[in-house]
Amino acid sequence: MKNIAVIGAGTMGNGIAHVFAMNGYSVNLIDISEEALDKALATVTKNLDRMLKKERITEEVKQKTLGNLTKQTDLKAGVAEADLVVEAATERVDLKLKIFKDLDEAAPKSAILATNTSSISITKIAAATTRPAQVIGMHFMNPVPVMKLVEVIRGYATSDETTKTVMDLSRKLGKVPVEVNDYPGFVANRILMPMINEAIISLHEGVAGVEEIDTVMKLGMAHPMGPLQLADFIGLDVCLSILNVLFEGFGNPKYAPCPLLVNMVTAGKLGAKSGEGFYTYG
Ligand code: CAA
Repeated sequence: MKNIAVIGAGTMGNGIAHVFAMNGYSVNLIDISEEALDKALATVTKNLDRMLKKERITEEVKQKTLGNLTKQTDLKAGVAEADLVVEAATERVDLKLKIFKDLDEAAPKSAILATNTSSISITKIAAATTRPAQVIGMHFMNPVPVMKLVEVIRGYATSDETTKTVMDLSRKLGKVPVEVNDYPGFVANRILMPMINEAIISLHEGVAGVEEIDTVMKLGMAHPMGPLQLADFIGLDVCLSILNVLFEGFGNPKYAPCPLLVNMVTAGKLGAKSGEGFYTYG
């Protein structure tokens, strides 16, 4: 593994590109928007500067990391020599299926095609390609340079060899990989999202206020962020869409999204990225 292509220059894409580049891999960061690519590289530079200031890395590491990153707007050219592609585009099934069909045509036959999806079925994504044994979930957590976990998700047809390669590679990035199977929400979001939903239901029912709920979980359970602050950080639209995947996937009312969450998303209150969610930002 030497050449990595990362599709999507959003929050997860730039974090994933950052981590691969910092560990010596040559990374093509691919997005249709030149503006998004420039913004992503500015974010990587800002995060490297933060690490430099805290003496976590040297100036040399910063320069090498930036030197390993190339921006690219053409998907086909960007993946032509990739050993591994990590897709981190918007969480839309139709978009992911189209990207994987294109990747299957453009990436070398030996390349592994990974997706950072937080809840879409790996088996479904793999079925859009002619190489389902080489398709796998590589679910990083936000902020990617900080969080140690990579949830490695095996689709129905993912091979042992692909799984081993991705587990070993994740360790080389300084991460701790955990292997899980392909069921709605995998493990991370199957457990996290019902907790966030229950926090929103508690707020909705007037059990306690926003800060009170978050304080209970922060100080009582040693969570770095309370569930409502975390929901804002993840994006309320993302939380809603993952809850819907759980709700539809299991057909169980215990996963039904709280009506307050639905209303907030409908009203455009999406959390930190929109300036307002359970808290206000900016
Ligand atoms: N890039 C690089 N470093 C970063 C960073 C970034 N984007 N953001 C924070 N850091 C570093 C800081 O430099 C600092 O480093 P040191 O320990 O070396 O000093 C460290 O992270 C802690 O940062 P801060 O002191 O600024 O802030 P904090 O202590 O409040 O921590 C946090 C911030 C790491 C985000 C912490 O609040 C936290 O862990 N929150 C929970 C995050 C979480 O649960 N993420 C998973 C979300 S779910 C998901 O991603 C998957 C999904 O499918 C929905």
